[in-house]
Amino acid sequence: MRAEDLSELAGRAEAEIAAAPDEAALDALRVRYAGRREGEITKAMKRLPALPAGERPAFGAAANAARERIEAALERRTAALRDAALQRDLAAAAVDLTLPPRRVRIGRYHPITRTIREISRIFAGMGFEAVEGPEVEWDYYAFEALNIPADHPARDKFSTLWVQAEGSMEVALAATGAGRARAATGQPDRILLRPHTSPMQIRVMEQRRPPVRVIVPGRCFRFEATDPTHESVFFQYEGLAIDEQLTMADLKGVLYSFARQLFGGERKVRFRPDYFPFTEPSAEIAFDCFACDGTGVTNEGKCRTCAGSAWIEAAGCGMVHPDALRRVGYDPSKYQGFAFGGGVERLAMLLTGTVDIRLFHQNDLRYLESV
Ligand code: PHE
Repeated sequence: MRAEDLSELAGRAEAEIAAAPDEAALDALRVRYAGRREGEITKAMKRLPALPAGERPAFGAAANAARERIEAALERRTAALRDAALQRDLAAAAVDLTLPPRRVRIGRYHPITRTIREISRIFAGMGFEAVEGPEVEWDYYAFEALNIPADHPARDKFSTLWVQAEGSMEVALAATGAGRARAATGQPDRILLRPHTSPMQIRVMEQRRPPVRVIVPGRCFRFEATDPTHESVFFQYEGLAIDEQLTMADLKGVLYSFARQLFGGERKVRFRPDYFPFTEPSAEIAFDCFACDGTGVTNEGKCRTCAGSAWIEAAGCGMVHPDALRRVGYDPSKYQGFAFGGGVERLAMLLTGTVDIRLFHQNDLRYLESV
């Protein structure tokens, strides 16, 4: 065998390698030509010592060149086979690389959460701290301590959902004021789903000394048929301020400022006498309708937002009743204050232009993402 034969060998190997149909065939060719022990090149190199000294360098160089050509051919064919396999896989999976990617859904706050945050933010600016309270509540805090004893007609207004308490629930609730509830009624208290956030007036006053300024957003429950403005599960925000010099003027000023910050512009606040057993005097507050600017009419006729009344009823309020103050150990001759409570959904409806309160709770993302 001579140097020229090696070049011919490499040419033959290149042709066979280029034609190898698959990995297995390629492996066989690799062993046959480039195998360390029995490969053709190795065999050729073993003949080197037998050659005349003058031919050895040329022969050795030719063997190395042949090995390089064969190895390069093996690499090329390996890459080509892999590429072909990939193309086959892609074709089989029928991936259409021109399709637009799936839309990434970016999370956002529920309109009610947004409204609660906005309410809390505005009142925080006036020194009110946001606190929360239990949704499952004692009769004592929801009614009794708010001057609404069992036979009081005001109970009718709060269509109450009562809870048949399991032992563990009694235990959990007992940790939050059961002692007072029992002391006041002389018997195990009844448990309910709070129909308003006002029980937190009492709970907060029990736990703090004046000055008190809190805002309490939270879920409430009433046994009601639903319609576009009523839900059996809804949210309220309760406000409470107790200090030494507070008057009805402070209540008005705070709610006036709240309305302007929430709705912008120069919102008017209407106070009308109302009745709540736990405030005296009591009032209902309304904001002049922002949709018709307090006129009751728009370009399309009667304003639909306020039903032509020019006002949007927003909350009940009043000066905290001296009985409630006494009950928590505050001296009514020294301390007084105001409380207010309104519906969060009502405000959320106005802020988002939502015409039916139930849209907030159906959790249809097509709607919730649009407001
Ligand atoms: N809790 C009352 C209601 O739900 C509203 C209210 C709150 C009234 C605070 C006066 C003071 O109707």
